[in-house]
Amino acid sequence: MNTLFPKQEILDHVLVALRRIVRSIDMHSKKLVQTHRLTIPQVVLLREIQRRGRLSLSELAKHTSLSNATVTGIIDRLEARNFVRRIRSETDRRQVFVEIVADGAKLMTAMPPLLQENFIQQLQDLEKWEQAQILSSLERVACLMNAGEIEASPILAHHVLTASEEDINRDKNASKVSGKSVPEASSLRDRNDSEKNVPDVCLRVVRSLDGFPGGFDIKTLTGFLHESLKPYEDTPEDIERGIRDALTAVGREGGFVLISELQGRIVGSLVMQKTGMKGYVPENILLFIAVSPDQRGRGLGRCLVENAIQMVDGSIKLHVEYDNPARRLYERIGFTSKYAEMRYVK
Ligand SMILES: CC(C)(COP(=O)(O)OP(=O)(O)OC[C@H]1O[C@@H](n2cnc3c(N)ncnc32)[C@H](O)[C@@H]1OP(=O)(O)O)[C@@H](O)C(=O)NCCC(=O)NCCS
Repeated sequence: MNTLFPKQEILDHVLVALRRIVRSIDMHSKKLVQTHRLTIPQVVLLREIQRRGRLSLSELAKHTSLSNATVTGIIDRLEARNFVRRIRSETDRRQVFVEIVADGAKLMTAMPPLLQENFIQQLQDLEKWEQAQILSSLERVACLMNAGEIEASPILAHHVLTASEEDINRDKNASKVSGKSVPEASSLRDRNDSEKNVPDVCLRVVRSLDGFPGGFDIKTLTGFLHESLKPYEDTPEDIERGIRDALTAVGREGGFVLISELQGRIVGSLVMQKTGMKGYVPENILLFIAVSPDQRGRGLGRCLVENAIQMVDGSIKLHVEYDNPARRLYERIGFTSKYAEMRYVK
């Protein structure tokens, strides 16, 4: 990273990454309010009640790491909409239980996973060292923002936890009326804005041949890359050899594959291989990158490259045809072309 970006650009990239996280949480929360008239904490509680069956309010507070007062307020709203009901204990009238009712259960069955559920799932799949690295970086960021002491529950929502759907809608309309527009960190944001209804793409990291996510393997990835690289495609044999080498080369460990997955299909991929070199020859080579034709121009290519840059140690080289429009994307991200590649073909 240091060798790729001048200092100012690193700072910009940090701000862009933060802005993306904030926007993603913001958009997810608002979408839930628009489509189901529910807030994130309401869904978290409903899911917990559905999973555990009848339980007391204090147990619910404990399992969701929320305060008793917060849980009481949210349950009031869910009960008013007939998604849950309170029941008094037969033996101790002071104790109150809560359970989900038919309408609430039906709603939960139709509900897609929350942003934080997908995120936690992917976080759990990471190696321990990577989880620890993420935690320490994020805690440092929170400290740098003087937010280290702010009390917070483990729920990704942009609003106060006890806000109602009406509160959130009111906020949204207020900012519309005021006409204030938030300056965007990069042009990618504008694209995402117009795509609020496009379902979320999951980014998977593969570090070994048996580490492909369910349903995919080296053959499916080879097929995807061969088709999507067109008209700059390599042969399936060369692609498969490249992927295999990136994931298994002895003495050059550290290669990986990124897969963008949308509704069970591969819509983008990047293969990064270790060169085993350093300095004059960069440590990494970006072997293949492709996004399926129907998904291009919405930032997936950039997202793959930016994630890969963050994951590698050292510099990255790549080969791109002079007439390939992908060059523009690489240049905008910060790749430069200092040398002409020349070959003697035998
Ligand atoms: C290159 C590629 C991965 C970019 O993916 P993407 O998701 O469309 O990229 P983004 O949405 O992040 O960025 C779009 C930018 O990519 C560049 N681009 C590269 N190839 C493009 C293509 N075929 N169509 C549209 N834009 C393309 C453009 O600079 C575009 O920016 P612009 O709209 O401002 O001109 C994708 O176009 C692709 O799979 N192309 C075919 C395979 C290929 O050439 N791979 C690179 C081999 S070196």
